[in-house]
Amino acid sequence: MAAPTNTLGMEKSDAMDEWTIVLPRRGKQKTKGSKYVLSKNEAPVHTWTPKDVDANPERERRLLHKMDICIQKLENSQFWKSLLNQMESTEFLNRIINLLGSESSMKMVVYGIGSIESYDPPRLQLGIVILMKRNFGWIGDVEVFDPIISLIESKVLDSLGCSVLSLNEQGRRQALRPTFFFMPHCEAELYENLLEANWRSDMLNRTILFGNSFDEYEQYMSLCNTSTISKPRKHILAIRNFTTEVRISADFDDYYRAFNGSSWHFFCLDSELDSLLQ
Ligand SMILES: C[S@@+](CC[C@H](N)C(=O)[O-])C[C@H]1O[C@@H](n2cnc3c(N)ncnc32)[C@H](O)[C@@H]1O
Repeated sequence: MAAPTNTLGMEKSDAMDEWTIVLPRRGKQKTKGSKYVLSKNEAPVHTWTPKDVDANPERERRLLHKMDICIQKLENSQFWKSLLNQMESTEFLNRIINLLGSESSMKMVVYGIGSIESYDPPRLQLGIVILMKRNFGWIGDVEVFDPIISLIESKVLDSLGCSVLSLNEQGRRQALRPTFFFMPHCEAELYENLLEANWRSDMLNRTILFGNSFDEYEQYMSLCNTSTISKPRKHILAIRNFTTEVRISADFDDYYRAFNGSSWHFFCLDSELDSLLQ
């Protein structure tokens, strides 16, 4: 018999069944092992270590220096000023206060940052993460994962106060507490995984997602013959009616490549919608 579907056209999932993974403590890292809850009905989560494990203190020093320069340049840019204005607006802060509830801060989970040693956009995206963290007390610990991160990059991320996850969660972290997902220019599958793992109103209502515009996905899909699109977008499309999307202004030459098409996404689902989403 076919699995039951809800009015959003989604199959009934096992979102309530979940498992807990306790990460081991990493060597000399400052952060303690964290507890994650990932949804059970998903692909297995693999422990991960960098493929490129060459230690090279000189390259590490150079990369840290490059990051410092990048952050300074960003901090003086019109792009950052415009983003800061947006994040300091009453409307934005009210959303954060609502989302935090009784918590004083929320974790920031950064997926898909790319190689900060090899490319400008990942450096700029990480630079924005660091500036956000420095400027907003509501942003708590920052956790980063991208399977392509090298040992050198991982050490630089540590030096900048971010912890690199030792598990490939496949984007399926559940927002059991308020969580800010920063996922610039990720593949649609990763947003799909995130939405699927959080496909419950209480979890989505606790989630902020910075990433590719869902509105653009919808427009793109409406122009395409859907049968020719191989990659699934069903959660992205189904959640559109419950999403407030706020575009960021990326019309600044030096920052366009790193941030074009990016938006904030806030989700607002009534509790009676729970039955539709399970
Ligand atoms: C299109 S690239 C974007 C990279 C960077 N953000 C940029 O704008 O240049 C997507 C990134 O997602 C990463 N990625 C793939 N699977 C991932 C996973 N399971 N968790 C986190 N990141 C992942 C890829 O390695 C890649 O670096």
